[in-house]
Amino acid sequence: MDLTTIILVQDSLARLRPERETAVVLFCLRLSELDPHLPEFFSGEVAGHGRQFWSVIEQWVNDLATPQFTIPAVKTLGEFHGRQGIRPFHYHAFGQALLWTLAQLQGEAFTQAVADAWTEAFYLLVGLMKEAASCTPDAPTASHTPPRPPKET
Ligand code: HEM
Repeated sequence: MDLTTIILVQDSLARLRPERETAVVLFCLRLSELDPHLPEFFSGEVAGHGRQFWSVIEQWVNDLATPQFTIPAVKTLGEFHGRQGIRPFHYHAFGQALLWTLAQLQGEAFTQAVADAWTEAFYLLVGLMKEAASCTPDAPTASHTPPRPPKET
């Protein structure tokens, strides 16, 4: 990612910090609409995963200029998800819910350039997770079908 794109995402995230809890709630609500079957995956509440998801996003965005330090943890997370039966198509709804949440909270500040920058940052992260998961040989098969056609990166 180039520096301009990184700064766009980091500024956007910084503006969101006071509304972090609201962001997590909105994200989880939107995700439940996009994929009503998601709770089937979780032993705990979907909201708990929402907070974990958001923490990873924050760390990933904050470290975008030096991703080499974050990438090993992201790959481990991808392998973990692979073993949980999470398949590439499952990530699409997460990306949609994230962008929707940002648009709700940032209004006019969420320009097309900011949206594109977030999309690039998110799918860079997801690409690493999917790649790591594909190297997980004993991953079980997912139990439900995707809410919409998969979007590969
Ligand atoms: C960028 C996308 C995602 C991020 C950053 C993320 C982040 C996380 C984190 C940090 C954990 C905790 C890992 C641990 O305890 O070691 C976790 C657990 C989990 N994630 Fe994700 N996740 C993502 C996508 C997904 C997707 C697409 C699904 C399923 C549709 C999913 C399902 C789960 C499940 C089932 C767990 C285990 C926790 C439980 O059973 O409650 N995640 N995720």
